[in-house]
Amino acid sequence: MIEGMKVAPRLVIERMRHADIPAVQAIEREVFTSPWPRNAYASELSQNRQAHYLVLRDGEEIIGYGGLWRVGDEAHVTTIGVRARSQGQGLGTALFAALIQRSYELGARWVTLEVRVGNAHAMRLYERFGFRPIGRRRGYYTDNGEDAVIMWSDSIHAPAFKRRFVDILLGIDVMGMGPPPSADYPTG
Ligand SMILES: CC(C)(COP(=O)(O)OP(=O)(O)OC[C@H]1O[C@@H](n2cnc3c(N)ncnc32)[C@H](O)[C@@H]1OP(=O)(O)O)[C@@H](O)C(=O)NCCC(=O)NCCS
Repeated sequence: MIEGMKVAPRLVIERMRHADIPAVQAIEREVFTSPWPRNAYASELSQNRQAHYLVLRDGEEIIGYGGLWRVGDEAHVTTIGVRARSQGQGLGTALFAALIQRSYELGARWVTLEVRVGNAHAMRLYERFGFRPIGRRRGYYTDNGEDAVIMWSDSIHAPAFKRRFVDILLGIDVMGMGPPPSADYPTG
């Protein structure tokens, strides 16, 4: 190494491992009002073959995570979180983009998710990727009776979706993101 040269800690997306669960749960307790049950991540990782979970690491430290279920043609984003002091710096965007890349890799056609109606910050993030609200589940969140907004992507293979996605990817400086979606994917 050249003397005096500072190496910035690198951000990297990786698959979630069992050893990551305590750090993920610590973030979850910090940023979610109703964290998942204690064993939820362990069973997601070891027993749910539809489930795919990622972490965002800054050096050794986990600073965000997200996951999805691939159900037929669809990828359902089940969770996404960035620790409080790291929010608003584009990391949620990077994690969400990594989940969409995973959706391409898994052969999904659409991506869907539910978000609290009051969570404007998260909704804006999804809207930047071209997601739109398509419905509501009344009183879906049992802790406070809040409605869930169901958001849906256009086909992730549609040229307009891909163009927007590739533009977002260009602004992300995180290792392990994978390549942009190929132009060979079916369109529409
Ligand atoms: C939702 C969540 C994952 C978003 O993560 P995040 O890291 O804050 O997201 P980003 O930084 O990528 O984008 C969010 C905001 O930061 C801004 N931003 C993005 N890149 C930026 C940068 N380089 N510098 C400064 N601000 C930036 C964006 O404009 C955006 O602002 P806006 O919401 O006012 O439009 C995070 O807020 C979180 O963990 N929330 C709690 C859990 C939660 O609600 N999860 C979603 C459940 S559906």
